[in-house]
Amino acid sequence: MAEVSLKDLSKVYAGSGKSPPFEAVQGINLEVRDKEFMVLVGPSGCGKSTTLRMIAGLEEITSGEISIEGRRVNDLEPKARDIAMVFQSYALYPHMSVFDNMAFGLKLKKVPKAEIHKRVMIAAEILGIESLLDRKPKALSGGQRQRVAVGRAIVRDPTVFLFDEPLSNLDAKMRVSMRAELSKLHSRLGVTMIYVTHDQVEAMTMGDRICVMNDGRIMQVAEPLDLYNSPENIFVAGFIGSPPMNFFRGRLIEDEGGTCFAERNQDGPSVRLALSSRLAELADSYLGKEIVLGIRPEDIADADSRSGGSKQSCGTARVEVCEPMGAETFLYLNSGGHEFIAKVQSGERYAVGQHVKLSFDVDKTHLFDPETERALT
Ligand SMILES: Nc1ncnc2c1ncn2[C@@H]1O[C@H](COP(=O)(O)OP(=O)(O)OP(=O)(O)O)[C@@H](O)[C@H]1O
Ligand SMILES: [Mg+2]
Repeated sequence: MAEVSLKDLSKVYAGSGKSPPFEAVQGINLEVRDKEFMVLVGPSGCGKSTTLRMIAGLEEITSGEISIEGRRVNDLEPKARDIAMVFQSYALYPHMSVFDNMAFGLKLKKVPKAEIHKRVMIAAEILGIESLLDRKPKALSGGQRQRVAVGRAIVRDPTVFLFDEPLSNLDAKMRVSMRAELSKLHSRLGVTMIYVTHDQVEAMTMGDRICVMNDGRIMQVAEPLDLYNSPENIFVAGFIGSPPMNFFRGRLIEDEGGTCFAERNQDGPSVRLALSSRLAELADSYLGKEIVLGIRPEDIADADSRSGGSKQSCGTARVEVCEPMGAETFLYLNSGGHEFIAKVQSGERYAVGQHVKLSFDVDKTHLFDPETERALT
């Protein structure tokens, strides 16, 4: 049972010269389950690689505890942790063939030759690189090198695989296909994997669960659709989903239609929306106070288009930019100086400067406290 458990894990990098000490990981708690594909995602510098390197034993822990399979590993050497790590730079040995690159770690461990041969051949077969075993890394494509790096991890037969942005050097198309390959590999090997990326699409498509990090802290841990549907705070709401969720600042007021959100804008029109009874109840204590309303681009429609009718009309906005994507169109809108994005049905044509009537899917709106930035739930 290869669970990985992080308890109050912190990392402070010592300062040097003028730079003060820096707390890159700030007391995180995370339980990765046996055979789980856990993705750590967050913006650059949020502490993902530092966390992964501490699990691997490549970075000293400042405080806290790491356990693998229920065993505390804080003081264990990397090679005693039964972990294999794949890096962004594949770090292949350029003068060695693909076979030797994959076999190298096993040779160092004095694994018998026949066993090495067997394990390399199995890994090569899993990854579809049997025909490349005699080549040197420079004669491989980026995607093939990536497979060799994964192969080198597979032959070690570890209980836990760690990946640090392994796909970021590949072109977009190759990334999509390797993403699916790695997901298949995960189910085939049935092992625990912890995968670091800053790409929320990779996180959403690959993770059994996703751990969203920011500034050295965990913002939320949940299954992909739970993150999308029920973000616990403004950070997660804005990070997961593309284009990101739109936020409107305003006040909750009481009018004849019930509880209503009224956007605050310096000038011009603003969004005004009657809340669903569920949200109105949740936000009861915010009546008369500031609040943040969030809505995803896909939950905003053009009220005049064929598909816009069923949602609640809530104001108008000016089209600043129109991006037809084929299946849908992204509208960059401006309402009273506030810019936001709508993902609308393609088929309609929009001109820059045109005004569109907005309708929001009220059941898909989110409310956040402006101070704590936490979702009202
Ligand atoms: N050796 C070091 N000394 C001092 N600070 C460091 C050191 N290594 C990393 N940091 C800082 O710690 C923070 C977290 O770094 P880390 O590499 O974990 O980020 P990351 O989430 O992996 O980012 P990226 O997506 O860019 O790879 C960053 O602000 C970084 O500048
Ligand atoms: Mg990193």
